[in-house]
Amino acid sequence: MRILQLTDTHLYGDPASRHYDRIDTAAALQALLARVRGMEGVDVVVHTGDASDDGSVASYRLLHEILDPFAAELGAELVVTMGNHDVPAAYTEVAGPGDHGGPWQDRVHALPGGGLVIVLDSSVPGAGYGHLDPEQLEWLRGVLGSPGDAPTVLAIHHPPLVGATPLLRGLDLDGLDALADVLAGSDVRAILSGHYHHPMTGSIAGIPVLVCPGITNVVDPLAPGGVERAGARSGAQLVEIDAPGAPGVRATSAEWASGGDTLEDPERPVYEFGPDVVAQILDAAGR
Ligand SMILES: [Fe+2]
Repeated sequence: MRILQLTDTHLYGDPASRHYDRIDTAAALQALLARVRGMEGVDVVVHTGDASDDGSVASYRLLHEILDPFAAELGAELVVTMGNHDVPAAYTEVAGPGDHGGPWQDRVHALPGGGLVIVLDSSVPGAGYGHLDPEQLEWLRGVLGSPGDAPTVLAIHHPPLVGATPLLRGLDLDGLDALADVLAGSDVRAILSGHYHHPMTGSIAGIPVLVCPGITNVVDPLAPGGVERAGARSGAQLVEIDAPGAPGVRATSAEWASGGDTLEDPERPVYEFGPDVVAQILDAAGR
């Protein structure tokens, strides 16, 4: 299975809106797609969330106006995951309800070439951190198969990891033990996530977790202590999963200067926060 992973597009319903008063997020997405348009052998394009920044129906229409023809041109399926900036009820108006009746955009996508992509909605209304309801975990338990079945990939916006910086740790997914309990011994070969806006790898229940760089900006997780910053860059990731019997998983990411940067000054961070601002953000969006 070859997956092109895109994440954190932060699109707006109003085309005049700019992320951090600077990034034209639709232009950033279009420029990134122009970079990867000729990729071959892609089975599925997986968007791992924060598709929208404002959660508007118009932003989700724009998302599909851009990504539907792009995926069709690649001959690939398109799968979209909800992130903390997304509004599942608004996305439902564009894409229909999720698979199990709750307010969540949880879905199982069976790929024509074999294999499953399972999408889990970790968004919490009005919050930045991630959470999975016990009802979602029960649904997940029911749709997972056993090792040796066709490869299954799980897409979830909030990585089931511990963030690399204080800001990201404050906005992490909770309930990792309960999720690990459901995943242990299952046929999930890889977990794809966004949210951090920087590449990262880790694992949960022995399953690799592959985090993709953002499209609206790319976070610098190696900044000096106390500093949280992101650059005007865009990235994407290729994830390759071998067939059962040759159980390799590989993630390869690439980044470019943002094609939506209205300042065109890649050296100037899109944001750079000190500890006081980080505390304010966590107060507003954290637990
Ligand atoms: Fe994001």
